[in-house]
Amino acid sequence: MPSEKRETLSPAPRADEAPFEETLRPRRLDEYIGQERVKANLRILVEAARQRGEPLDHILLYGPPGLGKTTLAHIIANEMGVNIKITAGPAVERQGDLAAILTNLRRGDILFIDEVHRLPRAVEEILYPAMEDFALDLIIGKGPGARNIRLELPRFTVIGATTRPALLTAPLRDRFGVIYRLDFYDLPAMTEIVRRAARILGVPIEEGGAEEIARRARGTPRIANRLLRRVRDYAQVRADGTITRRVARQALELLDIDELGLDEVDRRVLLTIIEKFGGGPVGLETIAAAISEEADTIMDVYEPYLLQLGFLERTPRGRVATPLAYHHLGLTPPSQEAQQPPLL
Ligand SMILES: Nc1ncnc2c1ncn2[C@@H]1O[C@H](COP(=O)(O)OP(=O)(O)O)[C@@H](O)[C@H]1O
Ligand SMILES: [Mg+2]
Repeated sequence: MPSEKRETLSPAPRADEAPFEETLRPRRLDEYIGQERVKANLRILVEAARQRGEPLDHILLYGPPGLGKTTLAHIIANEMGVNIKITAGPAVERQGDLAAILTNLRRGDILFIDEVHRLPRAVEEILYPAMEDFALDLIIGKGPGARNIRLELPRFTVIGATTRPALLTAPLRDRFGVIYRLDFYDLPAMTEIVRRAARILGVPIEEGGAEEIARRARGTPRIANRLLRRVRDYAQVRADGTITRRVARQALELLDIDELGLDEVDRRVLLTIIEKFGGGPVGLETIAAAISEEADTIMDVYEPYLLQLGFLERTPRGRVATPLAYHHLGLTPPSQEAQQPPLL
């Protein structure tokens, strides 16, 4: 059942997991595993702002889904000891919606705008002066009787999160004094994240079991947490409850997740490029149509990890499958094929 597998691996947040994610979310910077460079920079930023008694600069967090952007926004608020208000680009439909949010902020408060690249243009246009001058310019009324009013705002901090920084308009991007990119986590960090989650959930796990889950979670904490729950079920039903390496491996094989964490959609993306389009280059829209997926989903959810593995390359003419991808799928890359003597 492809749709079920897809749900297992897609790093997009899922409503039914919200309580579970809440429990596992680190609250302080010290509990936030990995992303060492971002943490080191943040510590200085927070410490300096606190010493001066000033609100933080505006911060933009970007990177693929499930890497800890929302978590980090909450942590920053905790470390600063300020309130955080949460909204998302698509939720702020009109200028008035944003005005209502901004006029309710207090000095130092954090406004977290998830999917900030999806703010409507008209809303963006009043947001960036607000970020720069801490004032809101509104037009009241229509036609000849319309007049401008300017509302002073307290100094506040916007934390924006996005999977697609390239879609931000230049003026909005320029208003963020600090920009951090979150990267996929390495294996030691992922293993630590699995161990921590198991400890919080009270799941007995051996080092090998944690590593096995970590290895197949695509460098993405949200996926690690999700796989941990599935493997816990398996350990409970098929073994004595403890997640050993063997138990983890069996459970993950049953979920059809290969040793690099690729699922059925990843394999279809690669196989389509290779088998239908001679290895590429082929446009993203064409791939999406061939496998009946949304181009946006492929770009946000699947492609970043395939690029990271070096299985896919982006060229001006489209996506290309690399020799590494061929090898992983047990196929022979075309250049090597050409070098081989004919079989006859
Ligand atoms: N650095 C980390 N250490 C431990 N757990 C993490 C870390 N980053 C993310 N997580 C876990 O992964 C889940 C998803 O993180 P989230 O912040 O919602 O990702 P994003 O907002 O980037 O999609 C969180 O519930 C949290 O439990
Ligand atoms: Mg998020």
